[in-house]
Amino acid sequence: MASKFLKPTFVYLLLALVTLVNASDPDILTDFVAPQNSNGIDGSFFTFTGLRGIFDKTPPATFTVTKASMAEFPALNGQSVSFATLQFPAGSTNPPHTHPRSAELLFVVEGSLEVGVIDTTNKLYNQTLQLGDMFVFPKGLVHYQYNADTKESAMAISAFGSASAGTVSVPASVFTTGIDEGILAKAFKTDIATIKKIKAGLAPKP
Ligand SMILES: *[C@@H]1O[C@H](CO)[C@@H](O)[C@H](O)[C@H]1NC(C)=O
Repeated sequence: MASKFLKPTFVYLLLALVTLVNASDPDILTDFVAPQNSNGIDGSFFTFTGLRGIFDKTPPATFTVTKASMAEFPALNGQSVSFATLQFPAGSTNPPHTHPRSAELLFVVEGSLEVGVIDTTNKLYNQTLQLGDMFVFPKGLVHYQYNADTKESAMAISAFGSASAGTVSVPASVFTTGIDEGILAKAFKTDIATIKKIKAGLAPKP
């Protein structure tokens, strides 16, 4: 299994790169942002262990994102960097979404992925990525990833130039937030029955 993964060391290079070229969060006026009422900060404040073992554990059964952003790792506050791991079982997809506050630099560390990004003129740029390839999704643009392999899982690590890149899922934001079905039917030039069908498919499974 280990040979299917690239050395995590490269990931630190990515982190440095993103810090230099894509820092976008507001600058802070201190070395770092300590939590309030904290005394005795030590190395563990700057350490994130939430992904420990991820390269060895049995892969998940459904598409899974594990974030290491400011919410999970408070020391990132003010540092303009974060990571996420993306695990794709065979045939799974990360549906179209955007990150409003950051570009995403995706690095394939297992398997292969089909990816695409759509610009503001609605032009699609897609690519099939192999193990070791990187792809940059520009800030704010709609993009997706898909593991087309019917047998093998895939994994990617994504670096962000924000401690809190944010994620807006296109299907969820449009169809699961209570927008009037008549408005959606008009927007998608279809009928309310079709809108209801799409919504049913997106509803959480009991
Ligand atoms: C891009 O998508 C089209 C289908 O929309 C597909 O035919 C083509 O192979 C894809 N290109 C790459 C490089 O994956």
